[in-house]
Amino acid sequence: MATIISIINYKGGTGKTTTALNFGAALAKKRKKVLLLDFDSQCNLSLSKGLKSPEKHIGLVLSKKATIEESIFKLDTFSIVPSVENLLDYEFAISNEPGREFIAREFLQPVKDKFDYILIDCPPSLGLLSINSLVAADYFIVPMQTENFAFIGLDNIMTATQKVKDRMNPDLQIAGILLVKFQYRTKFSQAVISNILSNEALKDKLFDAYIRQDISLMESPAFGQTIFEYAPKSRGAKDFSAFANEFLKKHGQGKKEA
Ligand SMILES: Nc1ncnc2c1ncn2[C@@H]1O[C@H](COP(=O)(O)OP(=O)(O)OP(=O)(O)O)[C@@H](O)[C@H]1O
Ligand SMILES: [Mg+2]
Repeated sequence: MATIISIINYKGGTGKTTTALNFGAALAKKRKKVLLLDFDSQCNLSLSKGLKSPEKHIGLVLSKKATIEESIFKLDTFSIVPSVENLLDYEFAISNEPGREFIAREFLQPVKDKFDYILIDCPPSLGLLSINSLVAADYFIVPMQTENFAFIGLDNIMTATQKVKDRMNPDLQIAGILLVKFQYRTKFSQAVISNILSNEALKDKLFDAYIRQDISLMESPAFGQTIFEYAPKSRGAKDFSAFANEFLKKHGQGKKEA
């Protein structure tokens, strides 16, 4: 049965898509069967695998015009359900449906036993699609870059995810906060870490692994490749491997806390 993971942060440019793509690839390298879902109308995850204006996409699945099975593109590394530029039209179409927050949980049921991990790349908002991802998920990961004041929004994410847990998905758990584009020695990075460690609710949520700044991580999507295909010896590849190891050690299948 698949473990479903929402990769979420309501801020833009925090490393969600980079994490979905390369964490997914790292799990696939470990022979896990991985499905990626692109929930973002920017379509960055889909484009990073060359899927532009696909015939079948997540909008059709959300609005029940296509099944998830027929919308999966099977690639060498992993499978993906791509997004589409007018995804917001599909989101609008479901916005008044009763039980609208449960649509993703419902459409994922038939494929849950076909994959080990299903990763959802969320848009930079806490709107209906992000809520759908949290209602469907076992875990959420919050990627956070340390270049700006990204941590300022963390309390909002924790409040929103707690509401989803209380009202709609009691099994939802935070897997952790992942630092991306990290430069260990800068004062700013250290300030971000101190800030998280001084927050009671967050201090034990930081992953030990972090993703260092690496130009290859920025370049690889333009070549339709994951970091393991584009630059297998890069810092980015090493860091995403280490992160996948830590994730599996802490939250791998059969390790879910009560
Ligand atoms: N470790 C890294 N080193 C260098 N560049 C990175 C790293 N991680 C992410 N980037 C770059 O930072 C930018 C933002 O990353 P990404 O697209 O993953 O963020 P996002 O949270 O998905 O953004 P959005 O909210 O717009 O969907 C991208 O150009 C990406 O290539
Ligand atoms: Mg993105």
